[in-house]
Amino acid sequence: MKEKPDKPERVVSGIIAEEDSTLDNSLRPRRLEQYIGQEKVKTNLKIAIQAAQKRGEALDHIILYGPAGLGKTTLALIIAAEMGVNIKNTSGPAIERPGDIAAVLTNLKKDDVLFIDEIHRLSRTVEEVLYPAMEDFAIDIMIGKGPGARSLRLNLPPFTLIGATTRFAMVSSPMRDRFGVIYRLDFYNEKDVADIIIRSAGILGIPTEQAGVKEIARRARGTPRVANRLLKRVRDYAQIKAKGVITEKVAKEALTSLEVDEIGLDEIDHKVLRTVIQKFDGGPVGLETIAASISEEADTIMDVCEPYLLQLGFLDRTPRGRVATRLAFQHLGLPYPKDQTPQAKLWTE
Ligand code: ADE
Repeated sequence: MKEKPDKPERVVSGIIAEEDSTLDNSLRPRRLEQYIGQEKVKTNLKIAIQAAQKRGEALDHIILYGPAGLGKTTLALIIAAEMGVNIKNTSGPAIERPGDIAAVLTNLKKDDVLFIDEIHRLSRTVEEVLYPAMEDFAIDIMIGKGPGARSLRLNLPPFTLIGATTRFAMVSSPMRDRFGVIYRLDFYNEKDVADIIIRSAGILGIPTEQAGVKEIARRARGTPRVANRLLKRVRDYAQIKAKGVITEKVAKEALTSLEVDEIGLDEIDHKVLRTVIQKFDGGPVGLETIAASISEEADTIMDVCEPYLLQLGFLDRTPRGRVATRLAFQHLGLPYPKDQTPQAKLWTE
């Protein structure tokens, strides 16, 4: 399935790049017991799945939200596998007209899962077909035009809609209200990312040392997709420049040559922070202004850079715009203005 294209050279992007799709598929866990991390979501899902199976019903509609690359599609595939049903994959931008969604819905079999990625990008007219489908398992089809037009209700088999989004706030509220369950995926901790790297290295047959894995995990932005991509890049480096084993030294050298810093920030993150700090006195400054001044798309900054910078506590979102925090100044080795005495300020100005 297609996700938004991203510049492929960006190794720390959570968005799927062309070369990742096959990699992602071979590394995807297939069952819940293979899925590392997101413990709260897993616990709740297990209960919901068992209860639905016990009642012999389809699962409630589920919305999964969180930053790109954390495993929303993987979880949807796992849910269908655990329920033992088919899954139909599509995405908000791919469903353009009401007829498109009607065609998808009328092809579903009993208890099937319909997965809609980027659900916040559905048009209002498409959403309106989905509402009765979600609530009553039915769609209303208009027959004819003008005064003689009438509506015909078509019943659907019960199904589960799984919607995924990186922008929960952009999902319309009537849409949100029709989901029975909302799961938020968080960035993974370093230990879970390291376990994911070990699992992936095992599948791909890459020899690793513990310290090498740790080094990659530290720079993977708490995001499995980034971790797997870095693992692949470091493997290339290890095979060409070293003896094929991912040691701490090899990982450090490889990641430095990829311009991924010790905490996973790349050139674009650095540019964002430096712009806020040096061009706009630490902020507040609007996202569009930041994007324009570094010639990046606002969407890339919002979906890829910002979630991680917010999580690190390097950026603050205020009503007047983004503000760089003391931690951001420190990371770039710049003096934080509020820490300085008026005397010291005079010296540095
Ligand atoms: N590969 C990518 N994401 C994963 C996860 N959460 N658990 C195990 N393997 C993964």
